[in-house]
Amino acid sequence: MQQTLKTRLGDDMVLTDPAELLRFCRDWHGDVTSGAVAVLRPRSTEEVSAAVKTCLEFGLAIVPQGGNTGLVLGAIPDQSERQVVISLERMNRIRKIDADDFSAVVEAGCILSELKDAIAAQGMFFPLALGAQGSCRIGGNVSTNAGGINVLKYGMTRELVLGLEVVLPDGTIFEGLSTLRKDNRGIDLKQLFIGAEGTLGIVTAVAVKLMPNPDQVATALLGLASLDDAISLYRRARRDCCDLMSAFEFMPPLAFTLAREAIPDLPMPIAGDYPAYVLMEISGSGLVDVSDLMERFLEGVMESGLVLDGVVATSHAQARNLWLFREGMNEGQAKRGTHLRTDISVPLSRLADFVRDAEQAVLDVVPDCTNVSYGHVGDGNVHLNVLPPAGLSPQERLDRITAAKYAINAVLDDYSGSISAEHGIGRLKREDFEKRLDPARRGLLSALKHAIDPTLMMNPGCQLNLGRNS
Ligand code: FAD
Ligand code: LAC
Ligand code: ZN
Repeated sequence: MQQTLKTRLGDDMVLTDPAELLRFCRDWHGDVTSGAVAVLRPRSTEEVSAAVKTCLEFGLAIVPQGGNTGLVLGAIPDQSERQVVISLERMNRIRKIDADDFSAVVEAGCILSELKDAIAAQGMFFPLALGAQGSCRIGGNVSTNAGGINVLKYGMTRELVLGLEVVLPDGTIFEGLSTLRKDNRGIDLKQLFIGAEGTLGIVTAVAVKLMPNPDQVATALLGLASLDDAISLYRRARRDCCDLMSAFEFMPPLAFTLAREAIPDLPMPIAGDYPAYVLMEISGSGLVDVSDLMERFLEGVMESGLVLDGVVATSHAQARNLWLFREGMNEGQAKRGTHLRTDISVPLSRLADFVRDAEQAVLDVVPDCTNVSYGHVGDGNVHLNVLPPAGLSPQERLDRITAAKYAINAVLDDYSGSISAEHGIGRLKREDFEKRLDPARRGLLSALKHAIDPTLMMNPGCQLNLGRNS
């Protein structure tokens, strides 16, 4: 089969050497390593279409891949002998940046940070921002409907997409790269592919919305008494800073330890120890005075005792250091070995109660594990992760992870929350997702999948288990 792929698609597009396949077949944490028949790396939409047609002809399933930073095992194969990875990494051209139109058209394989830099060089701003932005690719962001730290102000990826170009499972090219802001001609088909995690087609290019560059940014790290206080602070910030607040992230004290395990020389930003921390950013452009707004806001909340202490970054480098604590947490946790990662949302008004109940439920079943709750509090989105202690066997770690997951999900169901606020379902959360699907929703999802991908070749086993060719 490998030779057939090379003959059909050319040696340049097809990788088959197991050593070369490895980076495409291992997840970001290194928890799972699989294999693939081959990795195909097309350079154009036409080449993606040819690759898809060839896979269809030979009955090979396709796993699309962007930067492979996804956290739910959606981008790596689960049946190495039957699946092909189609990597978009060589489709990384910026087709157009149009400052007058506040839009850009970019290929799916553009790395998010490079895309943001190219757009910034034209005096514009693309607001999607996440810790993985140096590796994730815009096609992956669209396919997971990524969230990140700026959702409060700009929304999730879905809200930043104006149009899509997609190669459908029969190789047809769906041309939907319009940059129109308003277009109500019937059902908005591009929405089907946003958050589909590669189960309905391969996104090859994206038309995105741009914003004016926020040339004023104020960043503050604040120490507080509790998560409840962090939520009260958020409510107050929503009123006082209105829509200029661009990030409001919650971190526990362990954040600093974890980040420094990943980035050892990171200077400590704040002197005292506090039970809870908030990393807050206000940003704007034009005639507003963002620094003055931050100063006045902090004066008020410190006077009232809601904020116990805080530092405001006085330079871009200092602000970057504050963000490194938040971003370094993920790498620090990865260094502690396999652990439970969750991505939960509940109504903001119930977030503090949820975290308290869920953390207690974890301690009841796995008392030797460590809870790490952090995340995008303003979005009601918490990553309640559970780290098993060092020195356990892989099976003992897995048992604790499974027990903690069930404990958290049981609490979550009582709160009517979501098991996936921003990372998607992939293969990792499929079972938990399917268990909670009501028949009407399952019926619609299944009908949609069969209509668009009748041979079920696109990313089988991701999101839903429909069985292939069933
Ligand atoms: P991949 O991992 O390659 O793929 C993800 C899914 O999309 C897979 O199912 C894949 O098959 C599909 N896919 C990829 N490209 C295409 C395409 N062109 N067409 C069709 N399907 C495709 N996520 C957040 O939402 N918010 C965060 O704050 C955040 N922080 C993170 C921090 C770290 C350190 C890491 C490692 C991850 C983080 N993530 C976060 C998760 C991840 O970065 C996002 O899900 C991101 O959008 C994935 O992009 P990717 O290019 O790496 O996609
Ligand atoms: C974050 C990832 C885990 O918020 O979503 O850091
Ligand atoms: Zn997150």
